[in-house]
Formats: sequence, C-alpha cells, structure tokens
Amino acid sequence: MPPPLSASGRFDLHPAPPVSDETRAAKMKNPGFGRFFTENMVVIPYKDGAGWGRGILKPYSPIPIDPAGSVLHYGQAIFEGFKAYYQPDGSIKTFRPEANANRFNASADRLAMPNLPVELFIEAAELLIAQDRAWVPTSVGESLYMRPFMIATEAALGVKPSNEYLFVLIASPAGAYFPQGVKPVTVWISEDYVRAAPGGTGFAKCAGNYAASLVAQHQAKNEGCDQVVWIDAIHRKYIEEMGGMNIFFVYVENGKTIIVTPTLTGTLLPGITRLSLLEVAKELGFGAEERKISIDDWETDLREGRMTEAFACGTAAVITPIGTVKSTRGTWVIKDGNQGPVSAKLRETLLNIQHGVVPDTHGWMHKIV
Ligand code: PLP
Ligand code: COI
Repeated sequence: MPPPLSASGRFDLHPAPPVSDETRAAKMKNPGFGRFFTENMVVIPYKDGAGWGRGILKPYSPIPIDPAGSVLHYGQAIFEGFKAYYQPDGSIKTFRPEANANRFNASADRLAMPNLPVELFIEAAELLIAQDRAWVPTSVGESLYMRPFMIATEAALGVKPSNEYLFVLIASPAGAYFPQGVKPVTVWISEDYVRAAPGGTGFAKCAGNYAASLVAQHQAKNEGCDQVVWIDAIHRKYIEEMGGMNIFFVYVENGKTIIVTPTLTGTLLPGITRLSLLEVAKELGFGAEERKISIDDWETDLREGRMTEAFACGTAAVITPIGTVKSTRGTWVIKDGNQGPVSAKLRETLLNIQHGVVPDTHGWMHKIV
C-alpha cells in the first residue's frame, strides 16, 4: 500500500501512535522550556541538483549523521522558534510563522545554505501541530514551542558549503522560559566578549552565535547575574541585545511614554516580538522608537529619571523585565528591582493577541486547526 500523503502531496504521513493521556499529562503539568517533545517530527531532505525532496511526518527519533557530516565540523546549522497557541474557540493558531520562515531563509543565505520555500515551512508546521495537537497547552502563557532547524549533512571534510541538508521540525510544550517566571532579571554588561560584529552573522539565527555566547553567559552567572547584555563590537558602548532576546528601554519624555529599542545594524537579531511590540506600543498610545542607546545613556537616563523601565523580549520568554544592571562601572537598580507597568501592559497585550483573548487586528495569527 502506498504511504498516506498530506493534502498537498508533498509529505508522507507516518505518525507514531499517541502516548497515553497520563504520560502526556505528566509532562505537561510543569513543562518548563524545551524538556519534553511531542511524538512526531517532520523531516525534509535537500540535495544540490534535486532540490527539496519529499517530506515526512514520522516518529520523533534520532537523526543519523555521518561522522564526516559537515555540520559537525564547520557548523552550517540554523534554527527558528515560534509558538502555537490554544484559542478560546478550541482552535490552534501560530503567531506570524511567515516571519519566521522569511528569517529562516535570511539565515540560510548568510550560511550559504538553500532556501526552504515559505509554504513548505508553514505546511510542515501545520502537519506537526495538527498531528500532535493534544500537546498544545490550554492556559494563557503556555504554548507549543516549534523548533525548525536545518543542518548540513554531506560527508566531506573540505571547507565548502555542503551539497546535502536536512530540514527538521520538532515541537515542545512550553511554560515559562526562565524558571523564576516573569520576575525581573539581573544582567551583566559584557565588556570582554562580543556577540556579533559588522559583516558577521549577528542577524542570522545560526547555531554558532549561541555557542559563542555561552562563555559570556557563564561569566554573567559568575558575577551573580541571570543574563548577559551585549554591546557593539566597534565602539564597545552601544547596547545591542540581552542574551538571546532583544532589549527595550522605557522613557518618559515631555510627559509621553516611549519605548526605545536599539536600531537594527546587522549585528542584532531582528526579533519578531521586537517588531510586534513596536506596533502594539503605538496602539496603546505609547511612542515607539529605534535608536542607539549607550551604556552611559542607560546609567545617566536612569539616574536622572528619564528612563523608567528596561525589559527584554523574545518568543520563548515573551517579555522579561530587567531589575538590576551590573557592569565594571557598578550596579544600577531599575524600579526597585520590580516589574514596571509599561512592560506589564505590553506583555499582557501581546499574550492576549496570541491567545485570542482580544481580536487579531493585524492578521498576525495563522490558523492551524
Ligand atoms: N535575539 C536573539 C539573539 C534571539 O535568539 C532571539 C530569539 O529568537 C531574539 C532576539 C528574539 O527574536 P524573536 O522575537 O523573533 O523570538
Ligand atoms: C527566544 O525565543 O527568545 C529565544 O531566544 C530562543 C532561544 C531558546 C534560542
């Protein structure tokens, strides 16, 4: 018998039998972040000349890779992250998945990897979420985190772009990203390590960026901090990002509340949460600006009362307030270390859009089932 096909005919469907309700419920009770995975995954192979082959929805399982596989040596590896949310009417929707598909291809371009057609990226997500929909948590603030990635699989030790790749999509039920929930974090401004330099891979979501960040994150921990804040590679003074998240500052200027985020210079990851918050803020009556903020600005504007809050944003943790900033220059405390009202309002508004509590006036939500 020929294998069952997806509606488009581009994927073979060989799903695993579902785990028992008890097994799933035990994992979903306190999912944390990225600890448990659903029964299935989607894989699409690529070969130079032939292009993308037939995809398959199949049981979650290890990926065989040749010891000479180029990803293991030269690190051609990119990934994305987006979430599926349970809606009040029982349907499931994802947030701006085309934006993730487009950024995936921007990352692929930078790493000399092939582009994956946006409709294949979306269809892979639709198939996996529909199959494993029992894993989408129902409470606000919880979701099914989707992790698409692409690796270079050609067995060859010459330094060159691989001629074979694998696209893989896995899914993981997600609660709070940081174990402490939305409690403000303490950050360490790293003056020793750089995340990204002009001409480098900062705007791409490639595995190597995260590998190179770990030692700075380790240093931040040694300084008693939760997260590292990156500054720019050239002037060594402009704030870029916090760990794996974009960063915002809240200002009150002439009586108006403005959220300010560092300008995208090519060294920052263009976050989809960042972009969405710039729009949401305006609808809430706040100003929203992209501009450069230096370490000096952070310290002075805070001391002089112009800056009232700072927070980080990203798909995984949504919005995380920054309560304390540490650097070689000393320690500054923001809002007595508490979450401020502007970041709280933005967080609530974005979560309400994602969970269908308020209407999606932007067309950001993509219905899956
Ligand atoms: N910055 C970095 C370095 C990231 O890894 C991420 C996460 O994807 C973000 C920012 C936030 O991006 P997004 O809002 O699209 O999740
Ligand atoms: C984010 O979604 O904000 C991230 O940084 C993803 C992270 C787990 C790499």
